[in-house]
Amino acid sequence: MQLIRGRVVSFDADPLAGTVPPLDIEDGAVLVEDGRIAAVGEWADLARPGVPVADHRGRIILPGFIDPHIHFPQLQVVASWGTELLDWLNRYTFPAEARFADRAHAKAMSPRFLDALIRAGTTTACCYCSSHRVSAEALLSEAERRGMALIAGKVMMDRNAPEAVRDTAQSAHDDTEALIRDWHGRGRLQVAITPRFAITSTPAQLEAAGALAAAHPEVLVQTHISENHAEIALTAELFPEARDYLDVYDRAGLLSDRLLLGHCLHLTPREIARMAEAQARAVACPTSNLFLGSGLFDHAGLRAGGIPTALATDIGGGTSWSMLQTLGEAYKVAAMRGERLHAFDAFHWATAGNAEALHLGHRLGRIAPGYDADLIALDPRATPEMALRMEAVETLSEALFLLQVMGDDRAVAQTWIAGRAAKA
Ligand code: GUN
Ligand code: ZN
Repeated sequence: MQLIRGRVVSFDADPLAGTVPPLDIEDGAVLVEDGRIAAVGEWADLARPGVPVADHRGRIILPGFIDPHIHFPQLQVVASWGTELLDWLNRYTFPAEARFADRAHAKAMSPRFLDALIRAGTTTACCYCSSHRVSAEALLSEAERRGMALIAGKVMMDRNAPEAVRDTAQSAHDDTEALIRDWHGRGRLQVAITPRFAITSTPAQLEAAGALAAAHPEVLVQTHISENHAEIALTAELFPEARDYLDVYDRAGLLSDRLLLGHCLHLTPREIARMAEAQARAVACPTSNLFLGSGLFDHAGLRAGGIPTALATDIGGGTSWSMLQTLGEAYKVAAMRGERLHAFDAFHWATAGNAEALHLGHRLGRIAPGYDADLIALDPRATPEMALRMEAVETLSEALFLLQVMGDDRAVAQTWIAGRAAKA
């Protein structure tokens, strides 16, 4: 049993219902027992002799961030110069992913990947691995060692890529099936069915992914859609029978509320209506979309269209591991569209919102009794410049917005995984 003391903040309200004040306990505490939250309240009510205290007064205790779209084998692809999506994949990404056929490389990279997440205050991520089953096994095994609630899938890709990263429809099916059998539901781990995107899968492989989704209706499916105009045009050429990009996935039986669709930048009105009908999730990746020059996510439009949205780093098209930086860029993308992202909506998005998008809202993303004790302490005075700005801050939303705009891993004072302090 232990107590974490600080300003306890949690965002329970759905931003679709408008900006609602969060739970906010100025001198608060979280009582943690056996990896779960046992109680939340005023420090004065929860303090008890003999229980160790992590004292984070002056800091904000929040649920750990959730990153619903990130690529494990791209940790050395971040900051690759000069290309748009398809060239970027061919020139930088596929060669980097080819190295993950080597179990030793995948094993060496796994702790570095999870350390980076924890430094950034991210306690759960939904990860694309390479096309090699060993890459997913290495990552899941390291996450298990740390007790993390991690989701990972081996990418399925059987065409339009170098041989070193290609599988086949059958091997992708069998490897994914084996991963689900061996890892899904083990501890806090999950496996996701992960067809990379329409261009790199034959219709036969997408059908195999659909068969897996039908056989395992509780398993998440993740892929990319409508990120870049050249990608959309090539997809239309490769699937002449499909009505549009979304229809490629729909025909393969992949469209449901378990489907996480990365990017969603250039969707047609029909695709938006169909996604809303199926309640498929639109995953925004602002740093990646800006970096690759892909476009500006229409957050307000998709929400108004009834689509649940999530927010992700998309490392290594994305440029920062930090969900704080990602929220800061999401604010600027909204500003470019003449809109504004409120700090309460932003922090809800990166915690409870992302948890709900992953169907984990019943145990992650909130500070409430019974929830997993995946928590962070954020320091709004982490740098001299932030401390200076804080001198003029009066409200919680101002402090959070300062973290959103100026914060990064330096502002993460501690990250707890199932109640265990994990940040070195
Ligand atoms: N589309 C297909 N694969 C990828 C990828 O690895 N990153 C991004 N940003 N888009 C993709
Ligand atoms: Zn991606």
